[in-house]
Amino acid sequence: MLASNAVSELRARLEAWRRQGRRIVFVPTMGNLHLGHMALVRRARALGERVVVSVFVNPTQFAPGEDYATYPRTLEADRRQLEQAGVDLLFAPEVNSIYPQAVSVDSSYPVPEVGRDLEEAFRPGFFAGVVTVVRRLFDLVQPDVAVFGEKDYQQLTVIRAMVRDLALPIDIASVATVREADGLALSSRNRYLSAPERLRAPLLYRTLKQVAASAQAGEAAPAELEAAAMTELRTGTFVPDYVSLRDADTLQPLRATARNGVVLAAARLGRARLIDNVIF
Ligand code: PAF
Repeated sequence: MLASNAVSELRARLEAWRRQGRRIVFVPTMGNLHLGHMALVRRARALGERVVVSVFVNPTQFAPGEDYATYPRTLEADRRQLEQAGVDLLFAPEVNSIYPQAVSVDSSYPVPEVGRDLEEAFRPGFFAGVVTVVRRLFDLVQPDVAVFGEKDYQQLTVIRAMVRDLALPIDIASVATVREADGLALSSRNRYLSAPERLRAPLLYRTLKQVAASAQAGEAAPAELEAAAMTELRTGTFVPDYVSLRDADTLQPLRATARNGVVLAAARLGRARLIDNVIF
């Protein structure tokens, strides 16, 4: 596996592969890799002949006061895992390779409609940062396919919209959320949970599964199910930001009962802010 922080080296390697007609699959990450990321890598290997993984903690998707400075950076351990998983190229650029002019969002492409509420309401500017960095990484790697996790469901939907809007010749593949045995979705931020909080954390997924089942069965109106779930989470000492039933493709609010839905939630538990979703 080649590990490089240099755009020139990335380019040279990619050009050689393209000349050989290799299908290139890209997995963008912020590092601190866990089994959820490794599931993306496995899918990537199945989808093409060369796998490129980026590790870059993107400053523009963190708001002031969020955990950019302390976000776990574990590049050497990440490198070993990726090497073992058969990744062909690890690209771990410095900030100035991604943002040569200024560390700021690219306003030439506004965040698509699907990225204007939910996470955006609680982390203003988050998707502008994500769209900026993913577009830049796509420009550099020019993959045939890029792989994203379903845990960040709204992010996945925003990236799909961006690829469609800009007519980028990239297929977007998604991989189901990887969970601990008790249901907690894997996340680098789970490390912020204390031991007692960790025991309470699976309530988020349990609540969302219940909401999805009730919505599918038409047991109550979406707004009622959302409100009941917020109450349930508060009882479990979460501080929920939102629980929201949406159409799984458009992320428009779900009307009455429906199929093809998703229930998305974000909630703080102690120092951690957890997000999760259930698709139905
Ligand atoms: O999901 C993530 O880890 C990040 O938001 C991404 C897509 C790598 C962009 O920085």
